[in-house]
Order: sequence, then structure tokens, then C-alpha cells
Amino acid sequence: MATRPLEGKTALVTGGSRGVGAGIVARLAADGAKVAFTYAQAREQAESVAAATGGVAHPIHADSRHEQDVEAAVAQTAERFGGLDILVNNAGVGSFGPITDLKIDEIDAMLTINVRSVVIAIRAALAHLGEGGRIINIGSINADRTPFPGQSVYALTKGAVQSLTRGLARELAPRGITINNVQPGPIDTDANPADGPLAPSMLGVMATDRYGTAAEVGAFVSYLAGPEAAYITGSSLNIDGGFTA
Ligand SMILES: NC(=O)c1ccc[n+]([C@@H]2O[C@H](COP(=O)([O-])OP(=O)(O)OC[C@H]3O[C@@H](n4cnc5c(N)ncnc54)[C@H](OP(=O)(O)O)[C@@H]3O)[C@@H](O)[C@H]2O)c1
Repeated sequence: MATRPLEGKTALVTGGSRGVGAGIVARLAADGAKVAFTYAQAREQAESVAAATGGVAHPIHADSRHEQDVEAAVAQTAERFGGLDILVNNAGVGSFGPITDLKIDEIDAMLTINVRSVVIAIRAALAHLGEGGRIINIGSINADRTPFPGQSVYALTKGAVQSLTRGLARELAPRGITINNVQPGPIDTDANPADGPLAPSMLGVMATDRYGTAAEVGAFVSYLAGPEAAYITGSSLNIDGGFTA
């Protein structure tokens, strides 16, 4: 196996400016892929992520709430790199609280960014993905387990991603394309800091005594993106420190 298993491959990661997405961008680039990634707000952080890869990665401003932005990001990536091999749907948001307290805007944002934009990106990417193509969605263990109240709509969106992944595996296998759903447990990011107020209760239901890192998720995603993972498709795979054990 080559030391850089993604050499010659091209990738698009949504939401790569911070957190889990930034970890995925860094690892795909380190493993040899040319990587484009989207961001909506964090322009300076996006530029830092790109610079840290030595210019291998390219930021694209694209708001996942708008289908034109998502479709343009896919088209720009394919045009810049001369094709597209790997799509990682990572951009996501979460609003938590009793369902009657959630604002309609918060519900709409979760449905639009976590579900609708994933469907849009996959449809656009399928114009470019060929034999050996990879689609990797970033879901959540909350699709399988919601141990705390206040997670219902977020869990709904991640359950939708799980079902979409399963269904599309059937459609895409004849084209030699795999699709999988990586379900992180608590990962130390702005959205879920390891020293945040929710950490003690999260750690209380886990087998391990620590949060995961974006780099650990990046390594898992890179494996799924590589040639050795060709027989894995339609799966929802947990990386959760035993959250669901
Ligand atoms: N952290 C965890 O514990 C955990 C656990 C399970 C699943 N996940 C999933 O992992 C993914 C990343 O989470 P995270 O913890 O890394 O979150 P984060 O630290 O809040 O980062 C979110 C990323 O998504 C981007 N993003 C948000 N809204 C966007 C939009 N409208 N258009 C384009 N990009 C957008 C952000 O870019 P800008 O800042 O530039 O807008 C940022 O790069 C999400 O799908 C989340 O559900 C996280």
C-alpha cells in the first residue's frame, strides 16, 4: 500500500473551516488528495486550514443553506482539479432544547444544512464521481442513541442521513461508488467543547474518559475514502469512545 493512499484523488469537504471538517481536510491532504472545502462564515479560519496544508487545500465560500452555493462548490472543485473522486458531507449545525422551545429558524437550519444540502451535494457530485468514487457523510451517534432530552430534531436529521446512506448504497454500487455514514460521538470542537458544560454528562455515558479529536475522525474518513475500503458501503460507522457501547 502506498504511503499516501489518496495520491491522485480529488476531494470536496463541506464545512472545512473549523472542527471536524478541518480535521478531515488536513488528513485527506496529508494522505495525498487535492482537497477543496467550503465554509460559510469563518473565512480567516478557512484560510488558515488551507495554509496548514501547504496550499494543497482550497477554501470555497459556499453556504449550505443555498442549493446554488452547494452546486457551484461541486462544479468549481471538479473544474479546478479536473474531476471529483471523494465527497465528504460534514457541514452541520445543532440546536438543542425541548421541541417546543426550538425556534422555527433553528429547526429549518438543521433540516436545511444537515439533510437538504447533503442531498443536493450528492446529486451534484454524481455528475463527476466515477468507479472508485466515495461519498462519506458525517452523521452522529445521536441517530442511534439520544440519552439526553433536547436532542430530538438534531437526531432526526442524523437519522435521515443514515437512511439516505443506506438507500443510496443500492443505487451507487453498480457504478463502483461507495457511500458511508460516519457517526461521531463527542468530538472536541467549537460546537461541543471538551471543557464545555455538557462534557460531564457526555463522559458519564461513555466507555472512555475523554472526547475524541477532529484528527481521529479525519483518519477514519481518510480510510473510508481510500482503496482499502472498497467493500464498505451503506454502513453507519461509529467513532464514539464507546458512547453507544
Ligand atoms: N463535535 C461533535 O461532538 C460532533 C458529534 C457528532 C457529529 N458531529 C457532526 O460533525 C459535523 C461537524 O461538527 P463540528 O463539531 O465540527 O461543528 P463546528 O465546530 O460548529 O463546525 C461546523 C463547520 O460547519 C460549517 N458550517 C456550518 N454552517 C454552514 C453552512 N450554512 N454552510 C457551510 N458550512 C457551514 C462551519 O463553517 P463556518 O464556521 O465557516 O460557517 C464549520 O466549518 C456536523 O455535521 C456535526 O453534526 C459533531
